Amino acid sequence: MKVGEVLISEEQIQSALAEMGAAISRDYEGKDLLLVGVLKGAFMVMADLARNITVPVEFDFMAVSSYGAATQTSGVVRILKDLDTEIEGRHVLIIEDIIDSGLTLSYLLKSLKVRKPASLEVAALLRKVDIQRVPIDVSYTGFEIGSEFVVGYGLDYAGLYRNLPHVALMEEE
Ligand code: PRP
Repeated sequence: MKVGEVLISEEQIQSALAEMGAAISRDYEGKDLLLVGVLKGAFMVMADLARNITVPVEFDFMAVSSYGAATQTSGVVRILKDLDTEIEGRHVLIIEDIIDSGLTLSYLLKSLKVRKPASLEVAALLRKVDIQRVPIDVSYTGFEIGSEFVVGYGLDYAGLYRNLPHVALMEEE
């Protein structure tokens, strides 16, 4: 496999994040907001989205891992790193780079809901529309894409290409 054509450019990503940040800033005005990034993929979205949020915000991270092959989600989720922060009574916004099958988020939402946050919403840069197995209510979405395998802007193939400033397609050699 190799990196193919650009699917979403750096400019498109940055302008989507500016819009998402403005919407989040409006919606959380006067509220105590905690951003929860899902590692590793979300680090890039988290950094750039946060720079477009104008209300006071705190950061925390979770690391999860799905068992299984490189380009397929198995549906079994392991929490590798839990939140440092208690979230009871807090407004929590989960930040994801991509929602694929939806299984990771559905598991995360379930395990965070029992901790009684004041609110629990999701922001995702990318959302694969064709193959979502679990319906997830996403409050802020950057782009809807098809089932193609994409890399860049936090997304990897075998650990590589997360540093690309755009989202690109992977293609056969
Ligand atoms: C990716 C992505 C989401 C998840 C989405 O993470 O960051 O967390 O897959 O897939 P799903 O909707 O089918 O559950 P991945 O497991 O590849 O880990 P990484 O972020 O460390 O690369």
